[in-house]
Amino acid sequence: MPMESEIHTYTSDDIEVTYDVKRCIHAAACVHALPEVFDPEKRPWIDPEQGAADAIADAVHQCPTGALHYQRRDNGPSETPPTENTVTPFPNGPLLLRGTLELADTDGHVLLTDTRMALCRCGQSGNMPLCDGSHASSDFEDAGAIPDAMIREDELPSDAKKLRITFEKGSPATLQGPFRLEGAEGADSTHTKKAYVCRCGQSGTTPFCDGSHTAAGFST
Ligand code: SF4
Ligand code: FES
Repeated sequence: MPMESEIHTYTSDDIEVTYDVKRCIHAAACVHALPEVFDPEKRPWIDPEQGAADAIADAVHQCPTGALHYQRRDNGPSETPPTENTVTPFPNGPLLLRGTLELADTDGHVLLTDTRMALCRCGQSGNMPLCDGSHASSDFEDAGAIPDAMIREDELPSDAKKLRITFEKGSPATLQGPFRLEGAEGADSTHTKKAYVCRCGQSGTTPFCDGSHTAAGFST
């Protein structure tokens, strides 16, 4: 079954913007990028008539969760995934992924494909495994660094592009495929092809799983 969504659509002659309420964490990257188009004080809060299609597309690309997407109506270019998959733990918040992404359950059912996703790390989301912003009212604290002991460079298959994310109830998420894992400060970075990442918020080796979910009784 695909992930639950609640999509609103905003259209001008040149571009159609879609907004998935379920995936917005109010990080406001869109608002900062183009306040004349994305204005939470106005209704509708997205007005594509107020900006050029290229500028709107650039602002949408900055949405870290994939809540925003667009379709060009002026034959302008569509969004293309970055050539490299990247994974970054956001301080006190979700794991941010960019690239050619596929989220699947352990039976192999694809729930979501996208160029941008935010995975919950705090264990409190009501829209698991995606972040829904609940970390802001939780006591989850994590600087978003990659532990030195965990930095290793894997040999990557040259032809693989996709980063596949799988998860099951009460367990960490498995990331499989070529990706660069980068600490929030950008200094600690490694290329790898497989990692088990914490979803319960209790690991002592974040962003990786250390088995704490069992003792924590994590069952989401
Ligand atoms: S950038 Fe994306 S997640 Fe952030 S407020 Fe805008 S739509 Fe929501
Ligand atoms: S990290 Fe955002 S809801 Fe858990």
